[in-house]
Amino acid sequence: MKKDIKRIAVFTSGGDAPGMNAAIRAIVRNAINNDLHIYGVHRGYEGMINGDIRRLETSDVSNIIHRGGTVLKTARSMRFMTPEGRKQAYENLVDNDIDALIAIGGNGTFTGAKTFMAEYPDIPILGLPGTIDNDLFGTDFTIGFDTALNTAVQAVDKIRDTADSHNRLFFVEVMGRHSGYIALHTAIAGGAGGVMLPEEESNIDDLIKLLKRGAKRSKLFSIVIVAEGNHMGTVYDIAHQVSEKIELYDDIKVTVIGHLQRGGSPTAFDRVTASILGFTAVEALLEGKSGMMVGIRNNNVAYTPFADAISKPKTFNKDLLRLAHILAQ
Ligand code: F6P
Repeated sequence: MKKDIKRIAVFTSGGDAPGMNAAIRAIVRNAINNDLHIYGVHRGYEGMINGDIRRLETSDVSNIIHRGGTVLKTARSMRFMTPEGRKQAYENLVDNDIDALIAIGGNGTFTGAKTFMAEYPDIPILGLPGTIDNDLFGTDFTIGFDTALNTAVQAVDKIRDTADSHNRLFFVEVMGRHSGYIALHTAIAGGAGGVMLPEEESNIDDLIKLLKRGAKRSKLFSIVIVAEGNHMGTVYDIAHQVSEKIELYDDIKVTVIGHLQRGGSPTAFDRVTASILGFTAVEALLEGKSGMMVGIRNNNVAYTPFADAISKPKTFNKDLLRLAHILAQ
């Protein structure tokens, strides 16, 4: 039976991602547009357990669309992984008369939502994909991916200037946890000389062959993008192994871009995606949808059950992979 929804709460959870604020803004404004009361839970599931739930008004989300991070704050909650923590969270939601939830986050967030819904099915939940990793099945893009990618590409452009000036080989590590999306796209957009991904086996000898081929045509510097989840080890191990096998460059350097990729003003693409998804999630809850991630596929809004979003593998476009390797030569 469709639940009569009057009060919705929104929260962000897991790693913050640029564009989360744009999603919060769209949710708050469309909820109010639908005569709903909208609440913000601070610090994700942790705040739900602590009862940190506050009413939001239109003006609370003014002047945030361009800001990175999340105004609702976030956390990786260990307590929500326990039945006691979830019970406490449920009781706090009931005390605040919350009828439904919108969760913005990634894999861990939706895993928590799925478990919570199995125990407390009277509170419908929809999820928005908010993670820089772009690792969720069922959506072409996650909120934050485009901004993180652009940050990584800007860093590679800057490294290129100094690498070229000194005839150096640079290994640049990018984030993505177990996913190579940021790495693959950074390699293509940054014109990298090589890329090492979690999604495919790579080895030092193949990389060295590639670098030597470049050197033959007088390419005196190179940049190799290393996904943090690659199979070969840390970026430092990889750089060390390569340094023992070639003497093509004046020096070999490592740059870990790290959490720079998580911050910064969201790109227009992330802002628009987040606005569409946040706006749509409110109406989808009112239509009775629940237990799903609201994503974008082939330019259309697409709904994917949490179970699929978190467990089905998100595969690469094989052509893109081939292209990255061919253009790296
Ligand atoms: O999931 C987003 C992400 O930035 C990953 O790319 C990275 O592996 C991880 O979070 C880092 O997490 P934390 O900020 O908790 O160290």
